[in-house]
Formats: sequence, structure tokens, C-alpha cells
Amino acid sequence: MEFAEQVKSSVDIVNVIGEYVRLKRSGSGPRYVGLCPFHTEKTGSFSVHATHQFYKCFGCGAGGDVFKFIMEIETLTFWEALKYLAERNGIPLPKRSDLADDEAKKRGGIYEMHEIAVKQFRDLLFSPAGEDAREYLKRRGLSKATAEEFGLGLSERSGQTLARIFEKQGYAPDDMEASGLVLRRNDGSGFFDRFRGRLMFPIHSESGKVIAFGGRALAEGDEPKYLNSSETSIYRKSHVLYNLNRARKPVQAAGFSILVEGYMDVIGVYAAGIHNVVATCGTSLTNFQARSLRRHATELVVNFDPDNAGANATERSIPILLEESMRLKVLQLGGGLDPDEYIKTNGTDAYLDALKNARGYFHWLADRARARLDMQTPEGRVAAFQFLLPAIQKMPDRLERLSVANDVADYMKMAPGIVLDEFRKAATEKRGQVTRREELSPEATEVILLHALLDNAEARAEIAPVLRELKVVTTLRSHRIMETILRMIEAGETPSYSSVEGRLGEPDKALMISLVFADDTLTRDFSTEQAVACVRKLMMEERDSLRDDLRRRIKEAERSGNMEEAIRLFTELSKLERGE
Ligand code: GTP
Ligand code: MN
Repeated sequence: MEFAEQVKSSVDIVNVIGEYVRLKRSGSGPRYVGLCPFHTEKTGSFSVHATHQFYKCFGCGAGGDVFKFIMEIETLTFWEALKYLAERNGIPLPKRSDLADDEAKKRGGIYEMHEIAVKQFRDLLFSPAGEDAREYLKRRGLSKATAEEFGLGLSERSGQTLARIFEKQGYAPDDMEASGLVLRRNDGSGFFDRFRGRLMFPIHSESGKVIAFGGRALAEGDEPKYLNSSETSIYRKSHVLYNLNRARKPVQAAGFSILVEGYMDVIGVYAAGIHNVVATCGTSLTNFQARSLRRHATELVVNFDPDNAGANATERSIPILLEESMRLKVLQLGGGLDPDEYIKTNGTDAYLDALKNARGYFHWLADRARARLDMQTPEGRVAAFQFLLPAIQKMPDRLERLSVANDVADYMKMAPGIVLDEFRKAATEKRGQVTRREELSPEATEVILLHALLDNAEARAEIAPVLRELKVVTTLRSHRIMETILRMIEAGETPSYSSVEGRLGEPDKALMISLVFADDTLTRDFSTEQAVACVRKLMMEERDSLRDDLRRRIKEAERSGNMEEAIRLFTELSKLERGE
């Protein structure tokens, strides 16, 4: 058997993907579903098929086998993904080194240099030369076990250590430079270490490989306080969260993550037994990072330092997290303490209490607005409202926005009508943007419906009666095909591909062929629930358009002074909104 085949047949794609995405089994079948890690969505359109060993996202179209998934999520080449899966599953790699392409070899070298560095730093920290640094850790309440768990180390002050080792081991100068761990001397006479005399924090990829370092100054006057690795071919700052490799399982288990600012905060919180904690590496939070967190849990508590910088960073992170449909709270600790200091001062239980009592982000924002603006004046209230609106506009969920509208009105002592009006504007602006990214393409819906009606008796029985009642069906590109099929079912016939085709005109025949053969991955792992979800989507569309229509008619009636009619329509609208 070819090596790749061997690896593939000895891993289970459900387990592999399950490390990155919370998967739920759909029924008792071979399908698992979760939130797609490759695009933003609120409902799980990401499926993994245990029998066929492939994944497919019905939202963004991403799909493939286990290698493709690892390549995409870890940004690895095929060979790296292969090697990664083999190593993790104890499958010995073939001796021949042609298992790697050039790029993979280069990056392999950089990973190795990082491994060497971790070991070197650690050895130095626990050698006699590390005494001062160990003393420093002790002063900060960090135990030896914790230092070991986080792989902490110490870089040597002379700046010769790594450069010498890499040279001796025969790494090419270009590769050494590409590692970011050593720098070329200006006069071209070789290399020196980037990190010198610093406490070293290894930064891991989500799967646990060391890809970078943060180095904290130890000596008085050393600047900057933290020096981080620059970007390399294995390290993209905007993609990485510190400690996600250790935190991902705990985050899944707890159902939420805690986002803190600093390495020391992560370590302090983690060492207190609260493991679902991560940090950015000294940069502002990115959408990519928010999505990495959301793959494991949709809830999050932002717990940045209580100083101005921390508050500003919190403010910046809110719209990003909302954009990624996270449910978030903000925890601002009292006494001007960061999470690490707070736990040291007040104990773990106090911190857990504070976590439990963290407030919704909205209240935090509103408090900030109130502290800054004079809420007694109309101008102040308008300014506060404008300050809050952008964050609220980012909320993709309409119902949540509405419930926040009431809070805002209450909080700002504004008439709920005005708030709702503004929100409605925000909602219509937003709707166009979000749904397009989130939902199945109209074509995919049609493919699934057609498949359900033609090839699956159970799904057909379930959806046909509902489809018959829906007016939106007439807006589908394939409406004549659907109507033909629905009529046949109503007449007690069982529609088949050929019997339907016989009743269609030329353009519809061509359309039906293109739909049937469109994308067999869409229907390869077909389930009745999937068809029902498509119908539900059409029902929502129908309700939306009915609602828009009613709103338009209410406005018209009001304008022409026909209040009786307006009230009647309004009652209808309320019924519709309540789902009656
Ligand atoms: P301690 O001050 O040792 O408790 O560390 P801390 O982790 O609490 O650091 P701090 O609150 O000062 O900063 C938070 C995070 O911002 C750090 O963990 C670093 O990732 C980053 N950071 C802080 N200072 C610098 C700096 O001077 N340069 C860079 N690049 N990043 C920094
Ligand atoms: Mn701090």
C-alpha cells in the first residue's frame, strides 16, 4: 500500500477534525456536523462523513479528505500534513527523505531549529546560570512544574548559543535566517541570537508545535519589555493564540474561553486550574483568531488588563468577536489588577466568582459611554447611542439585536421607538451582507430539494406537502421543475427522473440535468434533515417577504390616513413576528 493510503486508512477523519471543530453526530448515521472552521456561520453546515472519510461545508464549499483538512487548517503542504498525521498516529515514516517537497523541507528545518531552541533555553534556565531567572519566577509565584509545563526557558546573554549550534549542525545560512531565531551580523560575518538574556515563552501552533517565542526582559532597563519572534514561514502572528494548544479541549469542555492579554496572565490563570484560557501574542485580536476560538466554543469572556490600554483593546475586540457570532462577556477586575495578579492577591475562588459574574459586553460598553458622556443632555445620549451602535450592528442575529434594543432604550433612557428604528435600519443594512456568506447558495438548495423529491421517499413525504404551500417556490430558478414534480406527487404518481424530464420544455430539461449532476458531494451523504432544513430556509424567506410586504402596506395605509387598515395590518404583522 502506498504510504499516504496507509496513513489515511489508519486515522479516522472524525477524530482528527474533532480536535479542531466541535462535532455532533447527526442521528445514528455516519454523518457528523459542526460549525465550519473555514468561514463564519451560525448554523452548522459543516459535515464530516465517517464512512466515506471526507468533509464538506455546504456553506462555503470547502471539502476533501483528511489530508486536505490538515493542510488547510494548519497551513501545511501535502507532505507536511502526511508527516503530521503519521507522527501523531505512531505510523513510522519511510526512511527515504523524498517524502518531502522543497518547501516542506525548509519549514521542517525551521521547526527543528525551534525544537533545538526550546531545549537550549530550558536547559539554561535550570542550570546554575539560570539562578537569577529562577529566583524571578519564584518571586512571581510560578512553580517549577508550571515553568516546565509551559516549556519556559532562558536565553543566554552573549547571543552566541543558537547561532553556534545551528552552524555546527550544518543548517544553511538562508535557513538559519528564515528561522527568525538568529540574525545576520551587519558586517556579514555570521549570525547572533535574536533573544538574549530573556525569559523565554515558547509559542505553539494549535496542534502543539513550537513555532515562535516571546521573550521577557529580566534585566533592569532592557527594552522592549517583551520581544516576540518576527513572522516566519511557520509563524503568522495574526493566526496564533497563545496556549490554544493546551486550552482547546478545556474550552470545549467548559463551553467558553477566557481571553487575556499577556503570557503571564495565561500562565497564572492556567496554574490556578482554570485551563480554558488563551491570549493574543501582543497584537490586537483578529477575525482569524476569533474564529479559532469559536470552533471550540461560541462563548467567550474577555478579561484584559483594567488599565486604559486594556479597555481600548477590549473595545476593539468587541466588533470583531460579534462579527464572528461569538457570545461575549467582559470581565474587568477590580483593584487595577490583571488576571495573574488578581488570582495571586484574591485567590482562585474569587476569580471564579468574578468570571461567573462577568457582564454582557453591552453593559460594559454602555458603562464606558456613560462614564465619558453626559447622559443628562440629549446630545450626550445621542453620542452614547452612536458609540454603541456599531457594535450592535455587528451582531448577525436579529433577535439578539432586538433584545439588546430594549436594553439600550432602558439604559439610555431613550424612547424604545427611536432605538428600534435605528436598529431596524442597521438590521436591513446588515442582512444583505451576512446571509450571503452564511447560507447555502440558491443552487445548492435546489440540488438538495430535487434530490429529495426524486430519490428519497422518506424526504419526499416529509417536504412535498409543505413545498406545495409555499409561494416562494415560484421564485426559484427551477420552479417549473419543482411544480411539475409536486403536481405528480399530488396526483399520486411517484416522480422519476425520466418521467419528470418528459414533461419539461427544453430550457428546464437542461436545468434539471445541470442540477442533478451539479455537485454530487452535496447529496452523496444526503439526509432527510438536510432537505427539511432547505424547506425551512424557504419558509423563512417567505416569512421575510410577507413581513416586508406588510410593512410597506402599513406605511401606505398610515400615509393615506387609513388608520383602521393600518391597525389591521399591524395585527397581522405582530402575528407573523410571533410565528403564528
Ligand atoms: P508581566 O508584566 O511580566 O506580568 O507580563 P504580562 O504578560 O502581564 O505583560 P503586559 O500586561 O505588560 O503585556 C501584555 C502582553 O502584551 C504581553 O504578554 C506581550 O504579549 C505583549 N507586550 C507587552 N509589552 C510588549 C512589548 O514591549 N513589545 C511587544 N511586542 N509586546 C509586548
Ligand atoms: Mn499584564
